[in-house]
Amino acid sequence: MHDRGLAPRDFQVARQEVLSSWPTGAAVDIEEAMRYQRAMPVGRRFAESLAAARGRLLVQPRAGVALIEEHIRLLKYLETEGEADLLPTTIDAYTRQNRYAEAARGIEKSVNAGTSMLNGFPAVNHGVEGCRRVTESVSRPVQVRHGTPDARLLAEITLAGGFTSFEGGGISYNIPYTKNVPLRKSIADWKYVDRLCGLYEENGISINREPFGPLTGTLVPPCVSIAVGILEGLLALEQGVHSLTLGYGQGGNMAQDIAAMHALRELADGYFRQAGHDGFDLTVVFHQWMGGFPEDESRAFSIICLGAAVACLGGADKVIVKTPHEAMGIPTREANAQGLKATRQLINMLSDQEKLDTETVRQEKGIIGREVDCILKKTFELGRGDPAEGAAAAFEAGVIDVPFAPSIHNRGRILPMRDDEGAIRIFNRGSLPFDEDLAAFHGERLAVRARTEGRAVSFQMVTDDIYAISKGRLVGRPK
Ligand code: 5AD
Repeated sequence: MHDRGLAPRDFQVARQEVLSSWPTGAAVDIEEAMRYQRAMPVGRRFAESLAAARGRLLVQPRAGVALIEEHIRLLKYLETEGEADLLPTTIDAYTRQNRYAEAARGIEKSVNAGTSMLNGFPAVNHGVEGCRRVTESVSRPVQVRHGTPDARLLAEITLAGGFTSFEGGGISYNIPYTKNVPLRKSIADWKYVDRLCGLYEENGISINREPFGPLTGTLVPPCVSIAVGILEGLLALEQGVHSLTLGYGQGGNMAQDIAAMHALRELADGYFRQAGHDGFDLTVVFHQWMGGFPEDESRAFSIICLGAAVACLGGADKVIVKTPHEAMGIPTREANAQGLKATRQLINMLSDQEKLDTETVRQEKGIIGREVDCILKKTFELGRGDPAEGAAAAFEAGVIDVPFAPSIHNRGRILPMRDDEGAIRIFNRGSLPFDEDLAAFHGERLAVRARTEGRAVSFQMVTDDIYAISKGRLVGRPK
């Protein structure tokens, strides 16, 4: 196997710089942090909890507020009232952009206002001790969930603070989240994060890593999400990560969603082994609908429950839950628990039934597999086998192209839309390296919809599709 691990000397030099970039960095002592992590009870360990679940679908919310005590109360509520298996700590927008001075002002304002004035938990400002107070207050494992292109200091502080899982990746926390950050820069910064996790791993402490599968959450074709997940998975494994969770965001067509989860698991496993990795622990997370929600809470529950059902029937290991407040913004803790309970009820009822495997699911899986192979073959060619260089070059060439991403480093030329059954297809494939058969398949499926609706395939369908679910349908049909 090619050794692409970050060189120890480079890592040490970068660490000095990262830890001195904000005062709370000075409290990170990795030897002490490892002793602390080693002494934590197994029930609060993410990787071990995922492994112990063995096919039982685990449920996890999103949640984060500005102040430590308030955040602890929120997590305890989601743990007891919401019966969450795994807990989150969603990081605020300032911290995600390394703007810690502004996060500090947000904390101050929150103290004065008596309520959270940040949209998440500013973990860097609260520091190692503040994080430990949070993770020690609950009995479930806690994951850092964010959207940070340079998450090096956040990772140092939260891992030393008792968090046992870290979301994100150099592609998935750049392309959908930022406009100007070069891909080579974010991938390099995430090598540091993965190397840090690998270091804990080498010292007997498993840190779960979870690349962000849904990307922009807007009509993302399964093959694009899966190709990115596999690349980020390879980048993590190269740095010594062992527990890896790859994600997929609900598209809306059940057969396509179930097929995508099977494809993700099988393809990732194959690519990882082919690259010489073994002994990794791969799990799959399903994200309930990441696009627009209706304001009507009953209708929101319906979307949540379809997501719960598909996660279960598709054999996901974990599901990230939405809430009936999704259209309004950050949910109350009660709304958050409602999303968890609705999901739990559905999962409990379906867990006694067989997983869904139909001819349509198998066909979809076959298509996705061929698409991912086309994309990754070209990507590895461009990168001469290196997934980091391959990813950067593939985005430049549009070989990987994420729809509706804000990044200038993404070509943004592909045009996805739903077919007559709501499966996500590609109208304009831009520079995605599909063979002629695949391109024809997408065209044929879209032609069926055009006939049904008595209109030509056009950009109007894309806009109609983007708003369809929040307006009560899956496919954006004309009135
Ligand atoms: N608490 C709860 N949910 C949050 N989200 C973002 N920040 C928070 C928070 N602090 C949710 C949004 C959206 C998803 C991307 O994350 O509501 O569903």
